Amino acid sequence: MGLDMGTSKTVVWAGKRVAYNEPTLLAVNPQRNRALYWGKAAAERTGKMKQDTEMLRPVRRGAIADYAATVFYLKKALAAAQRFRVLKPVLVAGVPIQLSSVEARALCDAAREAGAGGIFLVPCTLAALWGCLEDPEDPTGSLVVDVGAGVTDVSVIASNQLIVGRTIPIGGDDITLLAERVMEVSYGVRMGRIEAAAVKMDVGVGYYQDEMFEKRRNDPDHKGGFNNVRISKRQVAEFLLQGLEPLFSGIINTLEETPPELFEDIFRKGLILSGGSSLLPGLRRRLQDRLNLNVTRLPEPSLSVIQGVGRIITRFGQFREYFDEQMAMA
Ligand SMILES: Nc1ncnc2c1ncn2[C@@H]1O[C@H](COP(=O)(O)OP(=O)(O)OP(=O)(O)O)[C@@H](O)[C@H]1O
Ligand SMILES: [Mg+2]
Repeated sequence: MGLDMGTSKTVVWAGKRVAYNEPTLLAVNPQRNRALYWGKAAAERTGKMKQDTEMLRPVRRGAIADYAATVFYLKKALAAAQRFRVLKPVLVAGVPIQLSSVEARALCDAAREAGAGGIFLVPCTLAALWGCLEDPEDPTGSLVVDVGAGVTDVSVIASNQLIVGRTIPIGGDDITLLAERVMEVSYGVRMGRIEAAAVKMDVGVGYYQDEMFEKRRNDPDHKGGFNNVRISKRQVAEFLLQGLEPLFSGIINTLEETPPELFEDIFRKGLILSGGSSLLPGLRRRLQDRLNLNVTRLPEPSLSVIQGVGRIITRFGQFREYFDEQMAMA
């Protein structure tokens, strides 16, 4: 089976298809230390349950933040993905490229405790590229950037190997927070996380002249009433763009460490984007203009990691060499 347990969503590959794809989220009653809902059911109830219900994200910045919750969630996700229960399935899991050895250990332990017979880890950008390459042994260099919810992975890949790269602790959820902040501070509009995410997905970091949109807010002058406020898309986009600075500099630093032999390939092929946040409006053009590189996005970017993992599973022989070291350790 395949696994992509991200900061915002968990995807499981089973029976040659995506068999589970739900938010990595639990609704917990802290007094009784009991999970009430998980996945979609928990997400649907965000902000709609009793005050003491805690919305818990077991994964943060791409790594396990709450071990017990992760084990619980994984058990549920693996069970939901299987039409026929397999005893001790072996997992191939996409992970951030700079996952520390302690974080990797935690994921392996959690998977075993959740019923897996073993687990192989593969950097998510490598999986995303394998999902779309004709020939995984391709010796030419590729620059692959996965922009997720909690982290962004930047990597240069050639001949099945990660040559250089880094995990940047910035993702779409940080941009949502910025949207929430700019709406409140600059316009006096208070909104929940879901509405802020909608603004982010609508405005993004696009180039605007003087396009405006309207929102209702508590009227600051007449107590109790509402009024409409006009909001400049350009101002919002420029605010959100500041949040992407670490991403731009992370890519530039990675390119500086890249062996010159691979430059030509990268300039010819351009930058390949994956991850849900690669859908941010304007991101592609901002990257293109800043880096002077052609930028393409993989189809279905939030599923590209699991599709690559699926391909690894169906043609495991072809990728065996890559996992040799991990097999020796297991
Ligand atoms: N159309 C869109 N425009 C902008 N952002 C989007 C869009 N669709 C999804 N996102 C964002 O993509 C993020 C989820 O991406 P993805 O599914 O790749 O994350 P993840 O794998 O769970 O997280 P990570 O890899 O960081 O652990 C969320 O922050 C979400 O708001
Ligand atoms: Mg991810």
